[in-house]
Amino acid sequence: MNTTTDASGPALEGASGPCEAWRGRILYFTEDPAFHEQAHVWHEDGLLVARNGRIAAVGDHARLAPSLAPGTMVHDLRGKIIMPGFIDTHVHYSQTDIIASPAAGLLPWLESYTFPAERRFEDPAHGRAVASFFLDELARCGTTTAMVWCTVHAASAHAFFEVSAARGLRMVAGKVLMDRNCPEFLRDTAESGARDTEDLIRTWHGKSRQMVAITPRFAPTSTDAQLGLAGELARAWPDTFIQSHVAENTDEVAWAMSLFPGARSYLDIYDRVGLLRERALYAHCIWLDDADRDRLHDAGAAVALCPTSNLFLGSGLFDFKKADQARTPLSLSTDVGGGTSFSMLRTMNDLYKVARLGGTHLSGLRMFYLATLGGARSMRLADTIGSFSIGSEADFIALDPAATPLLARRTAQAQSLEELLFSLALLGDERAVAATWSGARLLQSRDDKALAET
Ligand code: GUN
Ligand code: ZN
Repeated sequence: MNTTTDASGPALEGASGPCEAWRGRILYFTEDPAFHEQAHVWHEDGLLVARNGRIAAVGDHARLAPSLAPGTMVHDLRGKIIMPGFIDTHVHYSQTDIIASPAAGLLPWLESYTFPAERRFEDPAHGRAVASFFLDELARCGTTTAMVWCTVHAASAHAFFEVSAARGLRMVAGKVLMDRNCPEFLRDTAESGARDTEDLIRTWHGKSRQMVAITPRFAPTSTDAQLGLAGELARAWPDTFIQSHVAENTDEVAWAMSLFPGARSYLDIYDRVGLLRERALYAHCIWLDDADRDRLHDAGAAVALCPTSNLFLGSGLFDFKKADQARTPLSLSTDVGGGTSFSMLRTMNDLYKVARLGGTHLSGLRMFYLATLGGARSMRLADTIGSFSIGSEADFIALDPAATPLLARRTAQAQSLEELLFSLALLGDERAVAATWSGARLLQSRDDKALAET
């Protein structure tokens, strides 16, 4: 995939700054394939052009190549699928080291593995080291943006942002708010949590490509006072994100309701304090009722689907039929360390099976939508990431349909784009991610030759 050729012809209209281009099969979405017949754009022999880290043009190679300025670098990715980078809308960098730790469900897992692992993030050097490994891993898996959970320690979030900013990545992260029902060593207070979050916002929100999420862990580990202050922050800083967990497991739902007896439902605990709004993403959402689903939709909030985690922890099966009836915005997440893989492709494999058990067939197109534009829309960042619309940030990947012998054999039989994508979703993992770019800069490649310039 290293061959580069010069394309000649008149410069792209309005050019300022040099362009770089990538030739291959190009895929991106413009709508949700569940609700629109024509929801994607596909160029069998396409060209993606970036300038100053943003998408400058996309289209058929034959049509676009003549408009490139002489000398423009064109990377030859023929045979690969060039698509927007994956967006993982819920992942705990602080749980990298305890991925695949056994426990009998969510609450024992938090006690025995999660809390002790998170304690180590009081040391910023540990935070920076884990953030560095974590971001390498995301790049290897083709994930260019994530909504990231740090720990209760403000230092863990500063450490994460430092590493992410140094790499020029578009990332969202937040310091966990947790002022009760947790070990003393992981406890903040309503006031200190709000103060630390506001400080993070002032330091990092909108700086380089970093953005901050207000991050109450889940209702059972926050007092009314803490959730109230989180809601105030969410009102004061309307373009920040909100992330939390809700309705993951029946024991957890019962616990939340016993702690907030006045709430109509678990989701309502967040709603009553102003934590349901655009840019609020709630992980799991398994045990919601119809009123909750309507409320999520009406508030412009979104679901972070966590299928590998839900199967691993035995939490339950997300109801796609009811979510789609309510038109709840959906996005796809790994939820590592409850989730068992950083790979969004492996996550699609479990996503498909969770949906299937509920009687829903998810198309390959829809799974790739959820992992790209679906995430961007849920985060209200669709004009910035998740597609190849002109002016979007040039965060993209090259998928190799022949990355393994089995993938090569199966994808060679594909009779349609849908079949090709479906087999990649069910058989693919990080080995299928040939290379990853962020802001048009190569982050990782499985083929060293791709790093070479000619
Ligand atoms: N609920 C509260 N905290 C967590 C967590 O760290 N992981 C998961 N999966 N659920 C949670
Ligand atoms: Zn989580």
